[in-house]
This record gives sequence, structure tokens and C-alpha cells, in this order.
Amino acid sequence: MIADVQAVPLSVPNFDFVREFVAREAAIVIDKGKEYLVETRLANLAARNDCASVNALVDLIRASRDGAAALRSSVVDALTTNETLFFRDLNPFDALREHVIPEFQAKCPGQQFTIWSAAASTGQEAYSIAMLLADHFPAQSARIFGTDLSPSVIERAKAGLYQQVEVNRGLPAKLLFKHFKQTPEGWRIDDALRRRVQFSVLNLLHSWAHLPPATSSCCET
Ligand SMILES: C[S@@+](CC[C@H](N)C(=O)[O-])C[C@H]1O[C@@H](n2cnc3c(N)ncnc32)[C@H](O)[C@@H]1O
Repeated sequence: MIADVQAVPLSVPNFDFVREFVAREAAIVIDKGKEYLVETRLANLAARNDCASVNALVDLIRASRDGAAALRSSVVDALTTNETLFFRDLNPFDALREHVIPEFQAKCPGQQFTIWSAAASTGQEAYSIAMLLADHFPAQSARIFGTDLSPSVIERAKAGLYQQVEVNRGLPAKLLFKHFKQTPEGWRIDDALRRRVQFSVLNLLHSWAHLPPATSSCCET
């Protein structure tokens, strides 16, 4: 049973604690005056943890000092902004297609490259790159990584399943019909493209050791 959370305003010390906490844990900046954002985003988490208010949830975390690791990470997750869409901002994708990849191929013929979507959210950016490669550079060997600190968005990215409202954002109909299948659960990206992207949880403030080196021997020259 999920408790009812009282709509009590967040106290000044608790708001300051949350701001400092997410800045330290994830370099997320919450501006002063955004108390409503913290109150809204943490209300569900407070309810799931039987806290009567968001203040009670923050008190719990403050009292636990370095404990309550799972709860702390859920607070960070809840305060991330996961807004994304396919082919967002267009220019980076045009630059990849017209300059970055052709110049790489001219300089490093036959070499593999790696592209990293470093705050990948639910995967639209990484899958946009996978579609661009499949459609314009089918012979190019490439590894595509997608990482994000939020385990919940990475699970969604791995599934490669999108609702109508999500495929309506940024994805040309031609690419939707070419690279996705409509299922009762939503639009599922082709298995071949899904397998082309490796998603994992990574906080950019932590070690990047499990990622491959950013450059190949070709590009170091
Ligand atoms: C607005 S989305 C951007 C998604 C995609 N890159 C795009 O431009 O469409 C920002 C993402 O950054 C992630 N994020 C925020 N701080 C992070 C950190 N310290 N390490 C890794 N990911 C982080 C959030 O979880 C969120 O999914």
C-alpha cells in the first residue's frame, strides 16, 4: 500500500540539502526557487517509502548519513530530466553524416570507430546514430555505446520499445516504417539495430574504466 503524501512545502534546509546532494552525486544543478520541482519529483518516492511528506523523506536520508544507498540513488534518479527525442537538434546528425564520418573514413580507411551517447536517457539519440549508420554508411564498422546514470531509463533504452507519442517526435515516417515494427506494446526497433547499441548505467562523475579508449591508433597520428 502506498502512503498518502502531504503537500507540505519543502523546508529551506531540506531544499538546500537536496540541491547540494544532487550537485555532489551527479553534477545536477537545481536553481534556487525550484522547490516545487523537487517536491513534485520526490512525491512518489516519498509515498513508496511510507514517508508522510517529501520533508520526511529528506529527513530520512539526512539521518542515514552514508547509509540508504538505494534510496539516495533513487533520489538522484527522480531528479534527472530525461527529455529526449529522435534526431534531436538535427545539426549534430547532419555534421556526423556530412563531415565527421566521411572525414574519418578518408583518414582511417577500413577502421572501426566508437560513438558514445554519454547521457543517453531512453536511447533515442543512440538509436538515431544507429539508423544514420545503417542508412548512409552500411559498410562502416562502428560500436555505439549509450550510458546514463539512471537505471530506469537504461532499461527502457535496452528494450528499444517506444510509444506512439515518442516516435512522433523527430522520427521521419520513412525511418519509422523502415526500422521499427508495430506491436501491441508499442513500436519496437529492429533487433539488428538494437543489438548494435550497448547500453549501460554510468554516472559521468564516476570511473569510465569499462568504456573502450576514445581514440584508435589511426586517429592518434
Ligand atoms: C535531457 S536528457 C538528454 C538525452 C539525450 N542525450 C538527448 O540529448 O536527447 C539528460 C540525461 O542526462 C542524464 N544525466 C544527468 N546527470 C548525469 C550524470 N552525472 N551522469 C550520467 N548521466 C547523467 C539524465 O539521467 C538524463 O537521462
